[in-house]
Amino acid sequence: MSTIQLKTAIPGPKSKALSARRAQSVARGLSHATPVYVARAEGAVLEDVDGNRYIDLAGGIGCLNVGHRSPEVVTAIHNQLDNFLHTCVQVTAYENYVELAERLNRLAPGTSPKKTILLNTGAEAVENAVKIARAYTKKPGIIAFEDAFHGRTMMTLALTSKTHPYKAGFHPFPSEVYRIPYAYCYRCSYNLKYPSCDLFCARHLEDTFKRVVAQEGVAAVIAEPVLGEGGFVAPPKDFFKVLLELCHKHNVLFVADEVQSGFGRTGALFACEYYGIEPDLLITAKSIGGGLPLAAVTGRAEVMDAVPAGGLGGTFTGNPVSCAAAIAVLEALPGLRPRAEEVGRRVRERLTEMAPESSNVRGLGPMIAVELPEQNGEETARITKAARERGLILLSCGIYGNVIRILVPFTVTDAELDRGLDILQECLGG
Ligand SMILES: Cc1ncc(COP(=O)(O)O)c(C=O)c1O
Repeated sequence: MSTIQLKTAIPGPKSKALSARRAQSVARGLSHATPVYVARAEGAVLEDVDGNRYIDLAGGIGCLNVGHRSPEVVTAIHNQLDNFLHTCVQVTAYENYVELAERLNRLAPGTSPKKTILLNTGAEAVENAVKIARAYTKKPGIIAFEDAFHGRTMMTLALTSKTHPYKAGFHPFPSEVYRIPYAYCYRCSYNLKYPSCDLFCARHLEDTFKRVVAQEGVAAVIAEPVLGEGGFVAPPKDFFKVLLELCHKHNVLFVADEVQSGFGRTGALFACEYYGIEPDLLITAKSIGGGLPLAAVTGRAEVMDAVPAGGLGGTFTGNPVSCAAAIAVLEALPGLRPRAEEVGRRVRERLTEMAPESSNVRGLGPMIAVELPEQNGEETARITKAARERGLILLSCGIYGNVIRILVPFTVTDAELDRGLDILQECLGG
């Protein structure tokens, strides 16, 4: 599909009609970042039901690192469709589940022997990581970070930080969740500066065990190696090493939530690789399935095996079509890494040039965003709307909604990427 084509005002008449039907039929609680309805997608281009084409810098919220309808993924799905769709792995199992687990165990950071359980969604994987950590340590507490996003189920909402619209009105949440500040250097909670801070925020975990919750009551610390919904904050290089050392010193597990940062988003397969750490449990989802729902928890074998048979699972977990897609994604990703890194360099350079004064361009590899100085989402809402009207799909994020993030599929062409960034520049200029 060739790139941007605007046939109607945005949204077009067919999208508008669908929005009206949606308002009557779909619960209001489901947000819609754009009022356009998709008819087709390919690579980094979306076509809506009115024939308008957009460059997609959102990638289904980071699920399409290998591109929309990656040919390898589509072929693998077709092949699986011709064999069988569902048996339930707990009843009659199948090879591609086991093969995917083997591959994830090999690819996860670190040298300890690993095991994997497959789930459907990021939130479900986070829930399972909490269960596994509690079963292994026989302790209840989980320490999560300010600005973290871990999902929308009750336990994952307890771990998620942002109140509106995620948590407000849904209390009470499960107990035994504690929160500490993240290494958000642009708005440091302790008003310190890196590197003179000497990673005070990581070292503060020791204090947390004294002042907030004793280590004897804590199963795990859970962190996103790069904040996703919280604004693409990538901590300084040694933050996680210090954190992990303190966790292990106190018999607390370290769980890395790589739902958004994993599967190539930062160029590396996992962001943990940049930080040189081996988490006890690694959570993946989103781009693992190349567009199909799939998630995983991969961890040290002895930790994973703390749960007895029957304690983990679910009817559709690790469905064979998603497993086939994920194996194709894993085959495709190494070849895309140089491109991912090139995309990262190009986007960082352009964002740095175009970012308004006092804004913060940040991220890791091609997981890049710009935070605007205003602590509200009004400017990002104006920018994403103006961009859409010019044929560019963009997403905001951040605790204040004032961050524009780039989650472009790495199959984007140079011409598409440059055009997309030109539009972003026009829109940032007001
Ligand atoms: C870091 C992180 N964890 C967990 C989740 C929840 O994943 P899902 O929406 O698949 O439940 C998300 C979703 O954005 C995420 O970014």
